[in-house]
Amino acid sequence: MAEATKFFTHVALYCRDVNKTIDWYSKVFGMKVHASAPGRFAAMSFGYRHHDLALVQAPAEFKDPQRQQVGLYHFAVDTGSFEESMRIFERAKALDSEFVKAIDHRIGNGVYVRDPDGNMIELWNEAHDTMAEAVASLGSRKEEFKTNPIGFPLDIDATVAENKPVRKKDGAPPSPITHR
Ligand SMILES: [Fe+2]
Repeated sequence: MAEATKFFTHVALYCRDVNKTIDWYSKVFGMKVHASAPGRFAAMSFGYRHHDLALVQAPAEFKDPQRQQVGLYHFAVDTGSFEESMRIFERAKALDSEFVKAIDHRIGNGVYVRDPDGNMIELWNEAHDTMAEAVASLGSRKEEFKTNPIGFPLDIDATVAENKPVRKKDGAPPSPITHR
């Protein structure tokens, strides 16, 4: 019997003010609350799984996230297209969210913003249509990776102006989860 497919699923975050964070993910990503305990907890979804994000009110004595620490650096949301990354980015900016950086990773673009607690989120869009193409692209950059495994600064304004963003061919969202 074949091994079951494994993939990352939800992210769980302790929040300084869970209501404020719910509002931010609702407005910026259009996520919906599927279950909640007011002021304590919310399970939020992009619409394809029952929850992609669990938000938990942190006790007052908990420390804020540190900018320089070992462990989680950021998590990424596949937006499906560069245009959609830009729409999300504009909504985040409208809420005075911190913009960190934008990088052309060659296999995709990453635009990095912080949520109200300072967690870094990468707005990611793929450059290739298939995993095989992406892996081939990575393979072709073996030498480059030795000195530059990250990528190149992405000029957002120029990318928008050029109107040739990288994107998936069909822009298809992930399949709904129908098992378990
Ligand atoms: Fe990343």
